Amino acid sequence: MPEVLVHPPMATTSLPAIPDSAPIQGAGKPMISSRKIARRVQQLGREISARYADLDQPLVLVVILKGAAVFAADLLRSLSIPAELEFVRASSYGAGTSSSGKVKFAHMVDGPLTGRHLLLVEDIVDSGRTINVIVRKLRSHRPASVKLAALLDRPARREEDVAIHFTGFVIPDRFVIGYGLDYAGLYRELPAIYSLG
Ligand code: PRP
Repeated sequence: MPEVLVHPPMATTSLPAIPDSAPIQGAGKPMISSRKIARRVQQLGREISARYADLDQPLVLVVILKGAAVFAADLLRSLSIPAELEFVRASSYGAGTSSSGKVKFAHMVDGPLTGRHLLLVEDIVDSGRTINVIVRKLRSHRPASVKLAALLDRPARREEDVAIHFTGFVIPDRFVIGYGLDYAGLYRELPAIYSLG
């Protein structure tokens, strides 16, 4: 079961000025520590490996760049089943803290996906628009199945129904950075997840 964070500790920082901000790391308590993330990703890896244990060909992880890159790298290494990697480059946030509402694509998978079992890997699901557009596009390849693993679920911003099959953490309506998630392209390198404001 995903961990539901109802009253997360707030970072003590306010929204940092970009690009001359003081480093966030160490400035406030993380919303989700790197240890908690690591533990949850290992659990997800076990769940996913068990769910797909009987496949006769490798699972295909479809990583939604850029935010999911860090999660996907750890999730991949927590699997005990064979897996291939594909990438989709989608963005909707631009430089702000809320989605622009338009999903832009710069890259859409290389390999043939017909008859394959796909597991989309997302860092966060907000409105649900990005993932739903991608699922629709991927279904046109006639895969055997399409499921979604999302590290973070922020249901307060949901505008479209989304089926998340493997959820890391359900978080409240705070803008978050770290572990792949950015603010204006920065802070993806932070090992924990912090809330801004
Ligand atoms: C973020 C995130 C998801 C999407 C979620 O991507 O990585 O792909 O927004 O929002 P939605 O559910 O409202 O569609 P972003 O546009 O920030 O690009 P990035 O992954 O390159 O940071």
